[in-house]
Amino acid sequence: MSEYQTVQETLRRTPATWLVTGCAGFIGSNLIETLLRLDQQVVGLDNFATGHQHNLDEVQAQVGPERWARFRFIEGDIRDLETCRHALKGVRHVLHQAALGSVPRSLNDPITSNDVNVSGFLNMLTAARDEKVASFVYAASSSTYGDHPGLPKVEDTIGRPLSPYAVTKFVNELYGDVYARAYGFSSTGLRYFNVFGKRQDPDGAYAAVIPKWISAMIQGQVVRINGDGETSRDFCFVENAVQANLLASVKQAQGEHQVYNVAVNARTTLNTLYEQLVEVLALNGVQVTARPEHGDFRAGDVRHSQADIGKAAAALGFAPTHTLRQGLEVAMPWYLDFLR
Ligand SMILES: NC(=O)c1ccc[n+]([C@@H]2O[C@H](COP(=O)([O-])OP(=O)(O)OC[C@H]3O[C@@H](n4cnc5c(N)ncnc54)[C@H](O)[C@@H]3O)[C@@H](O)[C@H]2O)c1
Repeated sequence: MSEYQTVQETLRRTPATWLVTGCAGFIGSNLIETLLRLDQQVVGLDNFATGHQHNLDEVQAQVGPERWARFRFIEGDIRDLETCRHALKGVRHVLHQAALGSVPRSLNDPITSNDVNVSGFLNMLTAARDEKVASFVYAASSSTYGDHPGLPKVEDTIGRPLSPYAVTKFVNELYGDVYARAYGFSSTGLRYFNVFGKRQDPDGAYAAVIPKWISAMIQGQVVRINGDGETSRDFCFVENAVQANLLASVKQAQGEHQVYNVAVNARTTLNTLYEQLVEVLALNGVQVTARPEHGDFRAGDVRHSQADIGKAAAALGFAPTHTLRQGLEVAMPWYLDFLR
């Protein structure tokens, strides 16, 4: 039995109360779905800045009325400390996902990204410390590796940030670290690397590459590849990210702050991603005939990214269940339903 299966069994036997911030977003809604399927009590906090009611409706439909009755939604903003304190009452495990994602968004509006990602984070961390929660796991980011050229990325070797977004995520880690030293408060940052899967928003100026391209391909539009397409990423299916959250919560080191890479340790170029998407769409009966266009490189982007996942494997028993290709095959029918 894998560590993840063991943890799932333990949770089923001894359910706990969880707070998932950003629960109406992509990763947050996948987290609440898994937790509710495991018969946990779940509180969700979101202000719908980038999340959607339809994500919550879909989880409700997926888990059924009995499990949905264990979910309580609070519409609120993490920039308000009292809202954070209210959401945390009686909570045992915190999965803090709420933030403004996207490098370009942060370049266009660094002040709001900082307010949400830094001040909002500090509110949650402080309120969680005061509530004496058993675990605090938060969404960190691979953007923290910045301009460091080493591959694969190892947790303790980072470069200088390339965007305001990367600064905000690195500041989260600094606060996590100092709250462990100063107050003995435990927390864990999960450095996600390009997570993808169902309910990732395909719309808007700041959409991530996979949903944006799937949407364009399904609608017969030309895909625009930033730069020469040899930029590479370690694409991580959302189920792998959910696994890391549950493992990190149950196995959190007491009185410590730790960060872990969360991906699969595989590097895929944008050109290869394009081909994979065309193939998986063809398996689903959609033929892509338009050729992609190449545009300028995007400001603030890291050229190559790949995670060494040895630390999470050793400390948490993290073992990704899906490769990029497997994740795309699972996610594609959802996109076809959602976009057509
Ligand atoms: N998706 C990825 O590839 C990726 C990679 C690295 C890190 N992350 C981090 O993972 C987390 C989740 O990302 P996602 O892809 O699910 O994004 P998402 O935009 O789908 O979800 C974020 C959620 O947070 C909510 N939110 C934003 N500001 C808020 C506020 N002030 N108060 C309350 N709720 C607020 C949004 O409404 C949204 O539902 C974020 O912290 C993001 O920075 C994601």
